[in-house]
Amino acid sequence: MAERPYIVGNWKMNGTRSMLAEARAIDRSSQRLMKVEVALAPPFTLLHAVHREVEQIGVGAQDCHPGADGAHTGDISASMVSDAGAKFVILGHSERRQDHGETNTLIREKAEAALSAGMRVIMCCGETEAVRDEGKAESFVSRQLKASLPERIESVTDSLTIAYEPIWAIGTGRTPTVEDIEAMHRTIRTLLVDLFGAEEAEEVRILYGGSVNAENAKELLSADEVGGALVGGASLTAESFLGIVIAAA
Ligand code: G3P
Repeated sequence: MAERPYIVGNWKMNGTRSMLAEARAIDRSSQRLMKVEVALAPPFTLLHAVHREVEQIGVGAQDCHPGADGAHTGDISASMVSDAGAKFVILGHSERRQDHGETNTLIREKAEAALSAGMRVIMCCGETEAVRDEGKAESFVSRQLKASLPERIESVTDSLTIAYEPIWAIGTGRTPTVEDIEAMHRTIRTLLVDLFGAEEAEEVRILYGGSVNAENAKELLSADEVGGALVGGASLTAESFLGIVIAAA
């Protein structure tokens, strides 16, 4: 059965308790939009508060430490974010790869920890503008994903979502052409089938992320192999985020 479109809001380093009203508004409106799966990834500081505030939408984390517990000051383990109410973890985001020097190997270890804690992984990938301009975007993203994903995943469809986020489209107002998005998502689908087999990989949703908004969402979400969106800036208000959810419905 084809999965519902998956629209995920990544609040990044934004959000104090005043944002709980936005989460409540998104949750209440999403109850009418049963044809779309909606989720939010608030900062750690708001994770449990948002989890307690909502009934319909999913709540997830933007990161987790690969270790189980111990002397890691300031870090938060997968079981701790799960305990706080997270049902998924966003991993491999270009901002963490860039700001924290996260390697494919570390991201794979974090993904294994998140899956072991019973959470879904939203695995991000994406190329720089220079790689795109050299015509090497698909080969780069395939290598990046293959090196970041765990080699073995139980019930892949239920545990894994991919988010293709071209780095040069994040926060810039620019997006690839629909044709380029479709070519990349087909490449990712082919890789998933190679890695996990057709039966398991066929239904894994491949989200697009990078300057998605209420105006362009309909076109982007109608592209072949696009199973939803990972939204940054436009997820920070209920009005703009619900505009995308409605476009997906
Ligand atoms: O994780 C989603 C994010 O990177 C996209 O950001 O602001 O371009 O929607 P934005």
